[in-house]
Amino acid sequence: MTPPNNEQESASTPRHVAIVMDGNGRWARERELPREQGHQHGRIKLHDVVRAFSERGVRFLTLYAFSTENWRRPSEEVQGLMTLAAEAIKQDAPRLHQEGARLLHLGRKDRLDPDIAAAIDRVVDVTKDNTGITLSVAFDYGGREEILEAARSLMRDGVAADNVDESAFESRLFTNGLPDPDLIIRTGGELRISNFLLWQAAYAELYFTPTLWPDFGPQEVTKALDSYAARKRRFGGVEGE
Ligand code: IPE
Ligand code: IPE
Ligand code: MG
Repeated sequence: MTPPNNEQESASTPRHVAIVMDGNGRWARERELPREQGHQHGRIKLHDVVRAFSERGVRFLTLYAFSTENWRRPSEEVQGLMTLAAEAIKQDAPRLHQEGARLLHLGRKDRLDPDIAAAIDRVVDVTKDNTGITLSVAFDYGGREEILEAARSLMRDGVAADNVDESAFESRLFTNGLPDPDLIIRTGGELRISNFLLWQAAYAELYFTPTLWPDFGPQEVTKALDSYAARKRRFGGVEGE
């Protein structure tokens, strides 16, 4: 979004952290458990991780929970993930609300079970005035889909080509109003982005850890933030200028 000011550039704490929560399936396989159990253990970690980032001063946290490509998984696994999402809304969301978190959803809602879509809308509405950490959950989210939809929306509104600048484009992304992520973490050892925040990641610092998501806890949060604090961001400029 807006270019970072000097204060933010030198800040050692990222304002916005985004996480690709990967490795649930492998966590389960290592224990000879069904993949579903890996997802369940992954969900259990959510609250502690959100709290750990919040306590460290991170103001925006975005979690990649289900991609537009994850529909390709066997239907029982997709169903299990939908059930977990419903559970998270029921159990985690009220606790987060109590702690002052503002919850947002990034992604499509038209392919979700209508009950889940309605529950998402309620949680977003109930928490909209909270002043704590902003927790965005990317669920049925894909970066390409998001960019295409922004382009379609500009065309539908008849915006003239010369008026299509970064801010006009960003205002039509799911992340409208959120700062770009400063740090993107991927657990589970894969070194890829998997269609996450393609536009927004332009100048994000990347942090990859082999730790599987169900094992990612407050200590890992500290390691990732320490790594970020040691980075020098230049945004295309020259250091020290
Ligand atoms: C991440 O864990 C959760 C989702 C993508 C929904 P995976 O299920 O991808 O776990 P691995 O990568 O198979 O270990
Ligand atoms: C990325 O993980 C999506 C989420 C964590 C929600 P995947 O497991 O789907 O990614 P790939 O298939 O390994 O790239
Ligand atoms: Mg995976």
